[in-house]
Amino acid sequence: MSTLLVIESSPRAASISKALTHKFAAEWQQKNPGGQIVIRNVFASPASFVTDAWIAAAYTPADVRTPEQVQILKESDDYIAELVAADTIVIGAPMHNFGISAPLKAYIDQIVRVGVTFTYGPDGYKGLLDGKKKAIVAAARGGAYSGDSPVAFLDQQTPYLKLVLGFIGLTDLHFAYAENQSRLELAEAGEKAGVAQVLALV
Ligand SMILES: Cc1cc2nc3c(=O)[nH]c(=O)nc-3n(C[C@H](O)[C@H](O)[C@H](O)COP(=O)(O)O)c2cc1C
Repeated sequence: MSTLLVIESSPRAASISKALTHKFAAEWQQKNPGGQIVIRNVFASPASFVTDAWIAAAYTPADVRTPEQVQILKESDDYIAELVAADTIVIGAPMHNFGISAPLKAYIDQIVRVGVTFTYGPDGYKGLLDGKKKAIVAAARGGAYSGDSPVAFLDQQTPYLKLVLGFIGLTDLHFAYAENQSRLELAEAGEKAGVAQVLALV
């Protein structure tokens, strides 16, 4: 059975990134009638910040971790198990101050784990999630930065997510953009374009 993991990270009830991930999930379900959809809303249930104790636990070899350390990493283990179990991952990403939302960042800090989602050696870093998994970012933003936009350099969402998701092995990565959400007269067309882009990725 195939599994779709939907990650939501917007604080807004009328979230456009969420509208896009919902459209994606509905279309995906049509194409995968027996498929399972798992929703992880990291705004509604925020990921814990990484702490000193978390770092110590993550860098302690698994076989010598104390019961407390095992407990500290359980949240991270659960998120990573969802990623491993998914065949397709769609991430709703609102642009906040040119980058990703704080809830999404806290979640990413929990899933980037040495020895679990990445490793390093003499040949450098290697992502450990299966590169055959398809990952889609459904990004919503107030302005327009994609294509040949003269302000493309302001977009810190796309390069960061490309880097960090690629770092843990999610290299089959695609982006859909709902742009101009802060421009009243352009917002609807921006959302429509984003929906068309995300549906083309199902
Ligand atoms: C706190 C905050 C910061 C934002 N920062 C930016 C920004 O830097 N650039 C931009 O184009 N839009 C920005 N916006 C607009 C959002 O990207 C836009 O409303 C988008 O639709 C958010 O996604 P959502 O609808 O899924 O919440 C910001 C919105 C909020 C609430």
